[in-house]
Formats: sequence, C-alpha cells, structure tokens
Amino acid sequence: MILEKYVIRGGNRLNGDVTISGAKNAAVAIIPATVLVSGPCRIENVPKISDVTLLLEIMRTMGASIKVINDTTLEIDCTFIRSSKAPYDLVRKIRASYYLIGALLGRCHSAEVGMPGGCYFGIRPIDQHIKGFEALGANVEVKNGFVHANAPDGLHGANMYLDVVSVGATINIMLASVLADGTTVIENCAKEPHIVDVANFLNSLGADIKGAGTDVIKIRGVDKLHGGTYAIIPDQIEAGTFLAAVTATGGDVRIHNIIPKHLDCITAKLEEMGAEIEEDDDTIHIRRTGPLMRTNIKTLPYPGFPTDMQPQLTTALCLAQGTSVITESVWDNRYRYVNELKRMGAQIQVDGKIAIVEGVDRLTAAPIKACDLRAGAAMIIAGLVAQGETEIEDIEYIERGYEDIVGKFSALGADIRRVHFPDAEPLAEAR
Ligand code: EPU
Repeated sequence: MILEKYVIRGGNRLNGDVTISGAKNAAVAIIPATVLVSGPCRIENVPKISDVTLLLEIMRTMGASIKVINDTTLEIDCTFIRSSKAPYDLVRKIRASYYLIGALLGRCHSAEVGMPGGCYFGIRPIDQHIKGFEALGANVEVKNGFVHANAPDGLHGANMYLDVVSVGATINIMLASVLADGTTVIENCAKEPHIVDVANFLNSLGADIKGAGTDVIKIRGVDKLHGGTYAIIPDQIEAGTFLAAVTATGGDVRIHNIIPKHLDCITAKLEEMGAEIEEDDDTIHIRRTGPLMRTNIKTLPYPGFPTDMQPQLTTALCLAQGTSVITESVWDNRYRYVNELKRMGAQIQVDGKIAIVEGVDRLTAAPIKACDLRAGAAMIIAGLVAQGETEIEDIEYIERGYEDIVGKFSALGADIRRVHFPDAEPLAEAR
C-alpha cells in the first residue's frame, strides 16, 4: 500500500538551477542490453528511479552481478547469466522489461519473459517486436501471460520494415540482431535520442550498428561484445518537464546537463507560449516574465513533439490566454489526467485524440492523483500554479521515472513536500 503523497502550495515562481539526471528511457534499455555482453559494463549517469531499481532486481534474479560504484554509476556483469527466464511478478510492473526478450534471444537464443506492464494509455501491442524476432528466425509464442521466444538454429540477419514507428521495437530488434549471423536492416525505425544512445553503447563494446537516429538502421552481426564504460545521455523529458514548469509558473531557471538539440522540439513550443530561451553547450536558460500564450500541439515520433511531454504542456496551457488545440497521435488514451485538471477548474474538452483547452484565469487546489508517470509530472505543474494546497496521490507512478523530483523543485523555490498518508507529516528523507 502506498503511504505517501505530495503536498504542494501553489503560487511560487521557479528560480535557480537544476541538474538533469540520466535518461530513463535510455537507462531501461541499456541495462537489459548488458545481457549481450561478455564482461563487466560500467554504466555512468544512471538515474535513481524506481524503474531502474526494479530492472536491476529482475537482472539479479537471472544471475547478473551488479555492483553500485557510486551514486550514479553501476557495474553490471552478465557473463555468467543463469537463466533466460524473467520472473513475471517483477516484469509485469515495468514496460521496458520487454527489452529482456531481445537481449536474451540475442545472447541465449531463448527467452521467456512475462508480458510487459507499465503505464496504461491504451492498448500497447508488441506485434512489431515479435515480427522482427520472427524475421531473424525465432519462433515466438505468447501464452499464459508469457512471451516464449526460441531460435534453436540461432538468429540470422534479415531485412524488415516496421508497420508503425516504434521506439521499443526498434531497440528490441537491434538488441536481438547485434550477435546474429549476417546483416539486419530495419526500415521505418524510430529516431529518438535514446535509440542513438543504445546503439552508441553497443558500438562502444564492439557492435557494428550504423544509421541509428535515421529511418534505416543496419546491423552487421559480430561474434561477441566486450565489457567497457559508457555514460547515459541526459533525460530529454525530465529537462522538458522543468522547462514546462517554469513556463507555467513564470521565473528564471538554468537547467544543467542537457543536450540542447534533443530539446528543440519542446523549446520551439515553449517560445510560442511566451518563454525566452537561451542555449549553451550543456545548459539551457529559461525565463518567462510576460503573459502565457496559447498554442497548438500535435505529438509525433522524434523529431516531432514528444507524447511524453503532452500532459505537462496541456497543463501549462490551462492558464494561457486563448484556446489551444492538442492532438495526441501516438497513444490512443493519454488524456485520463484531464479529469483531475477539471477538478481544479480547467476548461478542457476531449474528443478522441483531440483536447481543446480554453485558458482560465486560475486553477484552484484539489486532491488529485497521478494517472501515470508523465500525467503525474503534469499534476505537479498544476499544483505549482494552483491557488491553495494541492495533494497528489499515487505518486509511485512519478517516482518510476523522475529522480528526486521533490528535492529538485524545492531547490527552485517550489513549496512541495512528500508526506505520510494520511497523517500528512513530512518524511524524514525525500527519495
Ligand atoms: N505499437 C504497435 N506495435 C508495436 C509497438 C508499438 O502498434 O509492436 C504502437 C503503440 O501502440 C503506439 C506507437 O506504436 O501507438 C508507439 O509505441 P512505441 O513502441 O514507440 O512505444 P514504447 O516503446 O512502448 C516508448 C517509451 C514511452 C513513450 C513511447 C513513444 C520506453 C520504455 N517507453 O514506449 O515512454 O511514450 O516510446 O515515444 O522507452 C514514458 O517515458 O512515460 C513513456 C511512456
């Protein structure tokens, strides 16, 4: 049972400095990718989030040796992995556990992994992953909640075309084909920064992957990957969340440890909304002193506007002057959080994939809940701009993907606490 919630007293502008952690969606792919490696992998800039903790627990049960070197560095050695079976009770809690299918198939030619869980925003099929594994020569069966994949004759390079642009399928097929015999070509790939990061990680250990970050990825199979050291890229969506928060509250913040190019798709929209943005090598400076203005947003695969920033921007737009139109074109059902915002006075009409937001003068505090990870981040933004004291429940969703979000917002001047529920006493130590 979850015994904590966030309590936010709204109205403070955000000011100061914040440092972004390693990218969740890169970390949750790179950690399972170590299954392919013979030798220790030292991974730096690992975010301290519960999805990573869970994934490490799954890997340990399979025989991985994991050492914590320091706060953000791990050493993972899968040389003596014992099992190609991932336990269902843990796997079902995390979407990215599907990467174990590709990695185990590549390494052991066999994988038995529970069907992945994760945030719910519509049906989340893995048919494109399966199509890719089958093209490489595996037999794949989904039975009793498990994916069973076997390639008794090994995996062989193949050409394939993805029917939908999928981050998970692109990475998973890349993982399965790195040690396959021959060359694999994946067309209509996703191009997100974390796809490039996983390819760079594997290449640094001896893989031969070309074209990551474009529509076509070519993987020449190699015999073996060796150990090495790699630093995960900064989290584009965590940075985007702080940018959205400052745009909503107003203020002046420098965001450190970012790759500005990865944020272009987000900063372009925030400038339309009235934010002033200056970029440096690995820092971005955001200010909003003037009015908050309306805009339209359509989510698309990278380099389009990311679906994982849609709830945060929609929330900021609740207080903008005029009417904004949001089109969610990646997920079928990513507006469940809108009901929470309406309870705070937001004027939003949802019709299928479209949300129409009429800007209002104020939001007022209400007890609300995090419906999923990014919706949870959006609820924090709502709390920061609302009048009164907002309480957010189901915060475990938020902590799956944001490192020390309470500490980071507090350091920027937000009045946010993580408290015991229902006693409302501050916890001795925020995560
Ligand atoms: N799809 C299929 N078949 C497949 C795979 C995907 O039809 O086999 C569809 C999905 O239903 C969806 C679209 O393709 O409509 C895109 O899905 P994708 O596979 O790209 O999503 P994912 O890999 O499951 C990752 C992120 C999500 C992020 C999406 C889109 C991870 C662990 N998760 O999910 O991140 O929303 O890409 O960018 O990388 C988050 O971080 O909060 C999060 C949900």
